[in-house]
Amino acid sequence: MSDARPNSRLPGFYRAPLDQRQAELARQAGLQEEDLSVLASGGVSPSAADHIVENVVGVYALPLGLGLNFLINGVDRLIPMAVEEPSVIAAASNAARMARAGGGFVAETDESIMIAQVELREVADPEGATAALRAARLEIMGMADAVLPQLLQFGGGCRGIEIRALPDRRLVVHLHIDCRDAMGANMLNTVAEAVAPALAQLARGRVGLRILSNLADRRVTRASTRVPFAALAGEISAQGSSRRVEERGAEMARAIEAASRFAEDDPYRAATHNKGIMNGVDPVVIATGNDWRGIEAGAHAYAARDGRYRPLATWRVEGDALAGRLAMPMALGTVGGTLTVHPGARLALRILGVTTARELASIIGSVGLAQNLAALRALAGEGIQHGHMALHRRAVSER
Ligand code: MEV
Repeated sequence: MSDARPNSRLPGFYRAPLDQRQAELARQAGLQEEDLSVLASGGVSPSAADHIVENVVGVYALPLGLGLNFLINGVDRLIPMAVEEPSVIAAASNAARMARAGGGFVAETDESIMIAQVELREVADPEGATAALRAARLEIMGMADAVLPQLLQFGGGCRGIEIRALPDRRLVVHLHIDCRDAMGANMLNTVAEAVAPALAQLARGRVGLRILSNLADRRVTRASTRVPFAALAGEISAQGSSRRVEERGAEMARAIEAASRFAEDDPYRAATHNKGIMNGVDPVVIATGNDWRGIEAGAHAYAARDGRYRPLATWRVEGDALAGRLAMPMALGTVGGTLTVHPGARLALRILGVTTARELASIIGSVGLAQNLAALRALAGEGIQHGHMALHRRAVSER
């Protein structure tokens, strides 16, 4: 890969023929002809697919497009998005262009701490067992680390334990494992199964389930952006903007804040609001070979974590800009799993220019926030059907 950072501002990209877009991608991301050839087969060949899942009869492709204009933590990023829905990529790129006028996105992601759950049943004395498990905390962490020597080499390992009581004399022990750049599912399940008998003995109970939790609330990404009013109104120029444009932008910002408050007050609306966020998140999760069902489960469980389903991103008018903030779990990997066998997923990581799971998570959170902005701007203004249906018609007429 070239050392030069790509430029994600590529005006006219959408109008260029497919082969020119591919050539531009190769230039920006420092790709060779053979790298691009991966795209012709949908990212994975049938024979490779045969080693990934069972009963393979072929491969099933999705369109792969590039989200443009993304400036995230001061770095330009080309965003590979695998998605079947027309208008998603155009909308994300448009929102990223508006956000760019205010400095783009700022995002950070927690350490890669995942939770492995060990359920203990028929615990004779739950309170006494909790005390015994707490007293053996260091010993338990040592047992967990001993199961994953390779993870320790990469600086990961067990960071702590938590004990939760459930009805009917059950306890759940959470092992907090830092998975570094792996998603971690296999490691977590291995640890949970390995330490469960010792935990049951300490608690004087029986082993129940041993599995990771997809509510990865210790591995959360937070992304934010400030969109100047003029940019929101569609005017993005260095010359400054007229008062009328500023006022139009301010009006849009207030309408988007009202749309956010609707989602904050109503779970029915929050579900759709969050679906719009996942329109941005899932395509990048899929393109990078990650487990999108895990991301979906984590997102919605996190949205309901205090007993009421809430939006994952909210918007407020702040000074002369619209400010958006997103927080959601991001259990992602840049090593292991599908990545070892899926050339398309590896290519997507190269296009993104990421090496760490935390970097990838911060990018994906920013894409989710951009997608949400695009949806709310359309909904609060002319309605979603106008732009969406134009692109849908194009998709149908060009078949
Ligand atoms: C459509 O795929 C997504 C939206 O419904 C999201 C939203 O309503 O915020 C437009």
